[in-house]
Amino acid sequence: MTIAIAESIEKTRAAVARARADGRTVGLVPTMGALHEGHASLIRRARSETGFVVVSIFVNPAQFGRHEDLARYPRPFEHDVQYCDREGADLIFHPEVVSIFPPGFSSYVEVHGVQDRLEGASRPGHFRGVATVVLKLFQIVQPDVAFFGQKDAQQYRVIDTMARDLNVPVRLRMCPIIREADGLALSSRNAYLTETQRRSATVLSQALGEVRQQIESSERRAEPLVELARSRIAAAPESRLDYVAVVDFGTFEPLNALRGEVLVAVAAFFGETRLIDNLLVDIPS
Ligand code: PAJ
Repeated sequence: MTIAIAESIEKTRAAVARARADGRTVGLVPTMGALHEGHASLIRRARSETGFVVVSIFVNPAQFGRHEDLARYPRPFEHDVQYCDREGADLIFHPEVVSIFPPGFSSYVEVHGVQDRLEGASRPGHFRGVATVVLKLFQIVQPDVAFFGQKDAQQYRVIDTMARDLNVPVRLRMCPIIREADGLALSSRNAYLTETQRRSATVLSQALGEVRQQIESSERRAEPLVELARSRIAAAPESRLDYVAVVDFGTFEPLNALRGEVLVAVAAFFGETRLIDNLLVDIPS
């Protein structure tokens, strides 16, 4: 195995400094571990664009709500190390909670507006936790390029806005959603699903597929699209719809009529497990 593992901020900084001294550009793939093909696609993209690939693995307590799954979030570290090694990452940054949030920690990043909608409305405080930890990772690793998935499209927008507003010198990439053969978007949380829920959960991508067809057949009103996705998801076994939304991908403001870069986002529970998916379409005006 050739991959290096650093738990401390100092070791991480030293390894990145050596890579830079060798003239390599630095790529960062932030994750919470329990790596799957979605994460692997980001690592491969980082590999192709940058000379030194850092994968951070940190289950960030600041982005979990009080009744969410922080304690039982999967942490298969050995598997993750092998995954990163196989995909050709150079360094894993795997800090302990106290080195990221030491006693007395009191500075948080808020991205007003976008942080309050959709995922932010359902999970208050979530994006504050995400933006804060990602800014810290940017400060620690100082990557040239950082890689994120469209799976969490709103997270991408929060981070993009934060980096712009706070003059963080990093370029961001948003990579396509990787799916199972039946359409379900890969997620570390899919492991929580029972067999019935797993089958039922394909409704998210199916509903988005039907929405896409309607748009391709020239539907430009948001409401019938929302109704279509709602009714499909509500009819699936053991499902409980959280939201279906049609928003401007730049601002996350809801749209009545589709125009420009449009995001159709869905969230639903299957049993206790909350899953999200989305569709991004460009509607030239
Ligand atoms: P995590 O859920 O581990 O996801 C890490 C990255 O993988 C995110 O950018 C996410 O969008 C991407 N990803 C997850 N599933 C994907 C899929 N099916 N296809 C493509 N990309 C996928 O997102 C987080 O961790 C955290 O919020 C983090 C950014 C690390 C901050 O704590």
